[in-house]
Amino acid sequence: MSNEQKVDCGRRRLVVTTAAVGGVGALTALVPFVSSMLPSERAKAAGAPVEVDISKLEPGQMMTVEWRGKPVWIINRTKDMLETLPKLDEAVSDPKSDKVQQPEYCKNETRSIKPELLVAVGICTHLGCSPSSKFKHGAEEGMGADWLGGFLCPCHGSTFDLAGRVFKNKPAPDNLVIPPHMYLSDTRLIIGKDEKGA
Ligand code: FES
Repeated sequence: MSNEQKVDCGRRRLVVTTAAVGGVGALTALVPFVSSMLPSERAKAAGAPVEVDISKLEPGQMMTVEWRGKPVWIINRTKDMLETLPKLDEAVSDPKSDKVQQPEYCKNETRSIKPELLVAVGICTHLGCSPSSKFKHGAEEGMGADWLGGFLCPCHGSTFDLAGRVFKNKPAPDNLVIPPHMYLSDTRLIIGKDEKGA
């Protein structure tokens, strides 16, 4: 593994750790009186669901939360971003998401419950590095001219589209994993739990 690869994987661990520490600090500061109702750190590590406020997530933006020690991305895709997906069906290796990388309710064109909102585990299915977002087109992101936006895993060069589908002939074998999740309201999402109680 090259230095760059080590740095990137190390950065992922740092980001997760930082996010976890920051999240705990923010919750403590903002809602000190309900802290006993929140899952303990031990429960979270064991897989307790994580509730997320997505009210401030603007179109085109992405946020990251931690669930089961993993970064989970929530991306509010614009209409333009969504329009790129059908154009890439030929270029990605599992266009219909036939492999079990998502719950049944996300086995659709956008790999999501709501078309605009993608919820995906931000870990490359090759060796577990965290891909970088490259949402803009081609040259603006230093990518090829035909790049329509998605994610690049700098470790070994795997690329994913804006639904987390892996492109053909890349080291990563599978699409990014979509975790179980459900919406509690238009602005609240729970990750790690769905209608079936997963
Ligand atoms: S970890 Fe190897 S390409 Fe992502």
